[in-house]
Amino acid sequence: MKLAITGPTSGIGEVAFIQLAPHFNEIFLIARNESKANKLIETLSKHDQKKITFIYCDLTDMETVVSAAQSIKEKTATLDVLINNAGGIFQNKEITKDGFEMGLAANHLGHFLLTHHLMPVLLAAPKPKVINVSSEAHRAAKVDFNDLNYTNKKFNSFISYANVKLFNILFTKYLSENFGEKGLNAYALHPGVVKTNFGKQTSGIFGIFWKMAGPFMITAEEGAKTTIYLAKTKIDSLKNGYYFKKSRPVKPSSEAHSKKMRDRLWKESEKMLAKWL
Ligand SMILES: NC(=O)c1ccc[n+]([C@@H]2O[C@H](COP(=O)([O-])OP(=O)(O)OC[C@H]3O[C@@H](n4cnc5c(N)ncnc54)[C@H](OP(=O)(O)O)[C@@H]3O)[C@@H](O)[C@H]2O)c1
Repeated sequence: MKLAITGPTSGIGEVAFIQLAPHFNEIFLIARNESKANKLIETLSKHDQKKITFIYCDLTDMETVVSAAQSIKEKTATLDVLINNAGGIFQNKEITKDGFEMGLAANHLGHFLLTHHLMPVLLAAPKPKVINVSSEAHRAAKVDFNDLNYTNKKFNSFISYANVKLFNILFTKYLSENFGEKGLNAYALHPGVVKTNFGKQTSGIFGIFWKMAGPFMITAEEGAKTTIYLAKTKIDSLKNGYYFKKSRPVKPSSEAHSKKMRDRLWKESEKMLAKWL
């Protein structure tokens, strides 16, 4: 069994990576910080260390996403589980060198492109899974498909995060709908409100709320449980495309169910990423 995971260098992804390592024969650790990745690999047993391949990837730099997928494809013909975990909330509007709003690129576009290029090796596995780490924040989304990069609209840190977390669920549903017949299973999840590096740089109302929530947050070990459950467990095929919380399927917002929205998101993502597809 082979696993690839983004964002394994901190928080939820780090715990998921460490706890999943003994259950897989080969693991692609996809990260942007090689020294952090190497320190993490050193915490594993000598036996598990041999299974790990570091793959450089900055999800906000699409060229590196394409070469990351390429390197994985050169090393394996099959991939059983892809965990799209990396992400975060951005306080201010920043535009990547490719021209995308940073949160959109880090949380959605990078993973869209990575999954697209890994699809041949995923579909070559017997029961492949794509697991997308979303958030309950998706319920606050207010999507404007005509201005996804905030060219004309005022940037709002929390709403832009809520939008991309909604995209994670729409993307999941689209994957199950369009690749389910080929054997692909896709799941989205909310990890809980987890004490990690997430949100540490934020100020304003969200920053105050996040600091106040600190004492009530769960640990990264607790927060990683649903990701680990989905990666390890055989899930009923009827649950393909579902959104999970506390290792159980739950109903996401009505927008998250919208076929019109997931089709539009797919179309817009392909349009923005045309150069790298
Ligand atoms: N914490 C929560 O309460 C909470 C709630 C709901 C959903 N989530 C979601 O859970 C996921 C994991 O977050 P976390 O709480 O574990 O946060 P975290 O501790 O900040 O970890 C985020 C991970 O994503 C990586 N990352 C960020 N931007 C990247 C980029 N451009 N390219 C490659 N890797 C990048 C980080 O790498 P570096 O180590 O290099 O920074 C880190 O490994 C995120 O998708 C987040 O939206 C978190």
